[in-house]
Amino acid sequence: MSLWTSPEIEQATNGKATQDFSATGVSIDTRTLKKGEVYIALKGDALDGHDYVDAAFKAGAAAAVVREGFKTATGPLVHVGDTMTALEKLGAAGRARSKAKIIAVTGSAGKTGTKEMLSIVFGALGPTHASKKSFNNHWGVPLSLANLPQDAAYGVFELGMNHAGELANLTQQVRPHIAIITTIEPVHIEFFKSVEAIADAKAEIFSGMKGGTAILPFDNPHFARLKAHAEKAGLKKILSFGEDEDAQSRLIDCALHADSTKVTAEILGERVKYKLNIPGKHIALNSLSALTAVKAAGGSLSVALEALKNSEPVEGRGNRISVAIAEGRPPVTVINESYNANPAAMLAAFEVFAMTAPAPGGRRIAVLGDMLELGKEGPRLHASLANPLLKAKTDLLFCCGPLMDALYQQLPPDWRGGYAKDSQALSALVTAAVKPGDVFLVKGSAGSKMSYVVQALQDMALPHTKAKGTQHAV
Ligand SMILES: Nc1ncnc2c1ncn2[C@@H]1O[C@H](COP(=O)(O)OP(=O)(O)O)[C@@H](O)[C@H]1O
Ligand SMILES: [Mg+2]
Repeated sequence: MSLWTSPEIEQATNGKATQDFSATGVSIDTRTLKKGEVYIALKGDALDGHDYVDAAFKAGAAAAVVREGFKTATGPLVHVGDTMTALEKLGAAGRARSKAKIIAVTGSAGKTGTKEMLSIVFGALGPTHASKKSFNNHWGVPLSLANLPQDAAYGVFELGMNHAGELANLTQQVRPHIAIITTIEPVHIEFFKSVEAIADAKAEIFSGMKGGTAILPFDNPHFARLKAHAEKAGLKKILSFGEDEDAQSRLIDCALHADSTKVTAEILGERVKYKLNIPGKHIALNSLSALTAVKAAGGSLSVALEALKNSEPVEGRGNRISVAIAEGRPPVTVINESYNANPAAMLAAFEVFAMTAPAPGGRRIAVLGDMLELGKEGPRLHASLANPLLKAKTDLLFCCGPLMDALYQQLPPDWRGGYAKDSQALSALVTAAVKPGDVFLVKGSAGSKMSYVVQALQDMALPHTKAKGTQHAV
């Protein structure tokens, strides 16, 4: 189905097409581009997308949006002054023509997980378009908007930021009807004076709204601050979710299991019970925000809950991998949290880790990489993980990175599994120590590249189990 015709793209971007075409989607990456999509050649710090225009056509691009003067004979082009501006303009045009109810989610942690849940629950209510992966920044947001189908009833967008002012820009593009803030935590704190300043920056999301609804984390110490911002921005409805009795959507009971959670909650006065296939109280709280959005949008909670049964952990944010490493012995379980980390997310992951029992003979082993962008608080925040790890019944700890050194050095010797400067070097120490039945929690900021350790553990699978594909996510 056509998403954009060449005259529409010309009009939106102020560009000039070399010939007529129509495109089924918009892509900025030739590695993931699908046949029929229009490719926009962006110039980054290291690479220039214009060098990949021929690759885009090879992958089946319908056309390429390029800077004036760029030539290739391989396919239709749209010449524009600046390709990044063209992407933003196409995003704006996508938003302008849409009749969808727009839901945006931001927060210091849990954006992508909540976005995925929103995508599932709204998907059950009507045609829904959601941002892919963590496409939440200056290119991810306009790209997601440019891909918003005209017939979508709901649009779900993740908005992220590392600096003040960024969210104001993104929310002007998205213009949400409903905005969720998952939580406020000291994440990217090196770019801010205080956690209050982070709350203020997250509250910028309201500045792109005309009236509309805010859904805010009641239990967070910065709730009142967020609420004041929402009031000042003139939002019509300010709703809250949390554990506190006074939260409008309230977590009443939460039975935590190693791989699931049974939730009893009241969503804006409606009592519900449901099971999530993603463990952790923090995830249960995120789900409350998503269900509150459904109810605020006038959707049916029972339809949403039925759909929520299909939720599952996002890759790298708690998905479990079972690896058979020895014949007739219990497999190793890997909790893959390699996508991201910050102090709040670490604590949340430890709680789930504590509930995951090793098989007989196995141990609970944490493999942790640096939490980045914490500024001068970094070493202290790393060292402060020692007690929570102990409470989580961790048997052994492996660490890498300069910041994790602060934690590793203060551990009693029998807790120390090994330390290496980076995750690749650490992988060798971890794989040398593995025993059947072990449970691994692998976590660190994306920049710490802890996925190397996950991959190294997966590579230990017995060859025939690999062949049969028994290394499934559990
Ligand atoms: N409400 C929350 N509080 C603390 N940590 C959370 C919360 N929600 C999710 N997390 C954890 O934060 C990490 C990142 O989750 P993700 O959904 O990718 O967030 P983001 O998109 O904001 O980076 C995961 O380890 C996840 O389990
Ligand atoms: Mg994300």
